[in-house]
Amino acid sequence: MRHFLTFLIVTSSLMTVAPGMASSNEDIPLPMETLGAADATTADQVPAPKEDLHLGVASCAGSNCHGAARPYQNSSVVQNEYTIWNREDPHSKSYAVLLNDRSKRIARNLGLPKPPEASKICLDCHADNVPVSLRGKRFDINDGVGCEACHGGGNRYLGPHVSGEVTHQQNLDLGLYPTEKPEERAQLCIQCHVGDQERFAIHKIMGAGHPRISFELDTFTEVHKHYVMDTDYLKRKGVYSHVNTWAIGQIKAARRFIDLYNNGKHSHRGLMPELSFFDCEACHHETLVPSDPMRESHPSGKGDSATSKLLWEPRALSSNIGSGAVRFNDSGFVMTALLGELIAHDRGDQMRSAIMTLHKASQVDQPSLQQALKTIDHQLESLETDLLHHTYTVDDCHQLLRLLISRSRQNDFYSYAAAEQAVMAIEAIRATLEQQGDRSITDNSMNALRNATQNPDGFHPALFRGAMATLGSP
Ligand code: HEC
Ligand code: HEC
Ligand code: HEC
Ligand code: HEC
Repeated sequence: MRHFLTFLIVTSSLMTVAPGMASSNEDIPLPMETLGAADATTADQVPAPKEDLHLGVASCAGSNCHGAARPYQNSSVVQNEYTIWNREDPHSKSYAVLLNDRSKRIARNLGLPKPPEASKICLDCHADNVPVSLRGKRFDINDGVGCEACHGGGNRYLGPHVSGEVTHQQNLDLGLYPTEKPEERAQLCIQCHVGDQERFAIHKIMGAGHPRISFELDTFTEVHKHYVMDTDYLKRKGVYSHVNTWAIGQIKAARRFIDLYNNGKHSHRGLMPELSFFDCEACHHETLVPSDPMRESHPSGKGDSATSKLLWEPRALSSNIGSGAVRFNDSGFVMTALLGELIAHDRGDQMRSAIMTLHKASQVDQPSLQQALKTIDHQLESLETDLLHHTYTVDDCHQLLRLLISRSRQNDFYSYAAAEQAVMAIEAIRATLEQQGDRSITDNSMNALRNATQNPDGFHPALFRGAMATLGSP
């Protein structure tokens, strides 16, 4: 997980205050009906006003605008946002990526009729792929995921906001997207980072060579940041704590994941369900059974001899499906269950029991699985309401940490996806605690956790539990 190494911590003493695009293109014919254009949308899924013209990154990047080489002193925003985005943010390279050999190979393997940089399926996530009718004169698809893919088409707000005489609210009224609000930001990012009716990284794409996709709102917001949250920013926009952002992102992402399975067009095809809803490692790990399967020569699971490669072990949450089964990816649900438990113990129990029901149902048939997901979605819906105005205290952070440690002992984070989510949760908790001067999560523990989840191939559940144990009881 390369993002952790550059994880930045916002220095602010505020815990939480805070007052408060979907795209389409001239339709490219695709080989598989599942890769075609959407025939349905869910109201909730399109965050930005769709009718504003996108003027292009060039319209934002002037040296008097957001393209300053050095920070401005007397301006409310630093004005080097373009410079940073261009230099450090992978979104500025996301179109260029489509021109590389890996992308060519993916497109070839998928049998796309056009090269990746001309294929809607790739452009929808790798660029600001608004309809041609919404592209201004300086719009350039080569800009990748440009300013307006997130901040909204600039047609109406560009002029007024350059004058410097309008308020943030006025900008919002003119089509600027409220990226500062975690709920709205979550809806924005998960369009591409989890998926929506138009965009979804199905297993067929990964099978063709696309990297696995994961997301956590707070961590993904903090890396490659192109803006500064100084005192002025906090005054203008308020700030949500890292844990608050994490919590909102988890609930939104989990609900989207359910929606995509239950109402998306990708849930099932023929004999097999869509595999990208399941734990990758349920299928992808070493299958060569070693000569020492009981790991007697490596009781700790340490060492990289073949003996430590046989992974399966019991896990309380999915114990009802036993070994050799394809597990539904519950990594997001496991995180939200921690939030349920934070509110009330029996709430956490109910959520965990719903996850167990889900695993059971996943071995029966699709309607049972969908029903189980519906139950989880209802729980998440009320959790979302109950947490809307929750202020995460230092005690809450420690409680979440204790829960993470005890869930680790029950082997909840047995899959890489779940372990990765646990580590990102701990990053958010740590950042929030440090803002309060609490440094109880040490560098050593944090680094051990990052190392244990460095990449899926080297992931070993026992080593991860060891790293979690170093957190001790805070
Ligand atoms: C649902 C959104 C989505 C779709 C559809 C999609 N991608 Fe991606 N792609 C991503 C994201 C997100 C990443 C970054 C993954 C990460 O590293 O966390 C990525 C990463 C990549 C990478 C690796 C980039 C790097 O810097 O190493 C390549 C190559 C790539 N995509 C090519 C393609 C091609 C070709 C297509 C079309 C067939 C495509 N993608 C379709 C979202 C998408
Ligand atoms: C992937 C989404 C994304 C892209 C692409 C993006 N931004 Fe942002 N931007 C954000 C988020 C999230 C924030 C932080 C929340 C906020 O203050 O709105 C932000 C903050 C900002 C701010 C700080 C505002 C303040 O009040 O201090 C400016 C200015 C800005 N972006 C300009 C740009 C420009 C210019 C570009 C293109 C070169 C760009 N952004 C590209 C998501 C994005
Ligand atoms: C239009 C689709 C789109 C939207 C919206 C979007 N992203 Fe991305 N994001 C991508 C793609 C594609 C990549 C991969 C770029 C590459 O590697 O070339 C990416 C990469 C990233 C990465 C780097 C991941 C890594 O493994 O290094 C981060 C962090 C990220 N996005 C955060 C965000 C956040 C936060 C938001 C919301 C504010 C957001 N993105 C919105 C498409 C999108
Ligand atoms: C139910 C089992 C199953 C699950 C779950 C699963 N896969 Fe696969 N995967 C397969 C099969 C089968 C193939 C095809 C292997 C072949 O053609 O040789 C494959 C192929 C791949 C390949 C191409 C490998 C190659 O050598 O070309 C990648 C990459 C991949 N999967 C990634 C993923 C990711 C990421 C996930 C989780 C989001 C995932 N898979 C989940 C069964 C699965």
